Amino acid sequence: MSFQIAVLPGDGIGPEVVGEAVKVLEATGLDFTFHSALIGGTAYDATGHPLPPETLELCRNSDAVLLGAVGGPKWDKIEPAELRPEVGALLPLRSELNLYANLRPAKTISALIHASPLKEGRSMIDLMVVRELTGGIYFGRPSEVSPDGRSAVDTASYTWDEIERIARRAFQIARQRRANLISVDKANVLATSRLWRTVVTEVAKDFADVSMSFMLVDNCAMQLLRDPAQFDVILTENMFGDILSDEASMVTGSLGLLPSASLGDHKGEYVFGLYEPVHGSAPDIAGQGKANPLAAILSVAMMLRYSFDQAEVANRIEAAVDQALADRLRTADIFESETRLVSTKEMGDAVASRL
Ligand SMILES: NC(=O)c1ccc[n+]([C@@H]2O[C@H](COP(=O)([O-])OP(=O)(O)OC[C@H]3O[C@@H](n4cnc5c(N)ncnc54)[C@H](O)[C@@H]3O)[C@@H](O)[C@H]2O)c1
Repeated sequence: MSFQIAVLPGDGIGPEVVGEAVKVLEATGLDFTFHSALIGGTAYDATGHPLPPETLELCRNSDAVLLGAVGGPKWDKIEPAELRPEVGALLPLRSELNLYANLRPAKTISALIHASPLKEGRSMIDLMVVRELTGGIYFGRPSEVSPDGRSAVDTASYTWDEIERIARRAFQIARQRRANLISVDKANVLATSRLWRTVVTEVAKDFADVSMSFMLVDNCAMQLLRDPAQFDVILTENMFGDILSDEASMVTGSLGLLPSASLGDHKGEYVFGLYEPVHGSAPDIAGQGKANPLAAILSVAMMLRYSFDQAEVANRIEAAVDQALADRLRTADIFESETRLVSTKEMGDAVASRL
């Protein structure tokens, strides 16, 4: 049976890095069918909308989505703002596809350990932030500035069900890792956080094999710098996760190496998900063969692990990336003396040939 993949290359370096990720998927020997569609500024130019209905339809009919990146200076000033790539494509794509669980791993790569700002005396970091993506203060209403411009309000709200589904997902992921989960909130101040703790405590009863504790978000921000190796899975709400996942990812080094997944519910035997590098469309280097494709390649490794239950093949891709770096191949963003500078395509080829 063939895995049906919607491929949305997008703008800037998106098509370059996605091309290499597809190459690596093809080299796994598994059976994929790829269907491409427009998204972002290129979609706006061609159709007048950054998320054309055909693109959304294709995603709905696929088993998983591979996204490059969207946006760029050419489309920054489009009015109304709802037609700009980031606002008009990314946010609706996530909510329309009900992608409520955002997974952001942060893992030390031995060959690049010196790139971590925390390298001195640190042990290896291997953690996963599981962030709730479709609720909380980014979506609560009212959210507005008053007519006189002298006050403003945002609303944080969560339902039991919203918390329960992300908590279950995080516990399941912890079970596949080192079975250690820390739930992060601000329960000393926020009512939503107190509900969060109640629900997570309930869900934890079904996962007695996973060790669980709570941590306040301000302490977590500090602990990520003090001792990041203590974390396995961090479960948290939308805004805290937005901030903590960026902090956590940078303790390991370069933007060009950071993958992500956004998961929805089961669809048949697969878990529907969208996979994308954390970085943007990097217009400054687009079309020059300079982009690092490893974040996109590591994103398809996540696709195999979390959507298709192919952990062994995912491990092989990650090992091939480690090997290419251990063999001193570097794109420009991570280049240093005594390493070999390679293009986007050469890096993709290097990973595919090491699978
Ligand atoms: N998910 C997304 O699609 C997404 C995410 C972030 C930003 N954006 C958009 O991308 C555009 C550029 O944003 P930005 O400059 O703030 O962020 P960016 O991530 O595109 O680039 C930041 C810097 O990192 C470099 N960089 C990024 N990815 C790289 C890679 N794979 N290899 C080598 N170098 C890489 C860029 O050259 C640039 O110097 C904007 O329009 C922004 O809105 C999109």
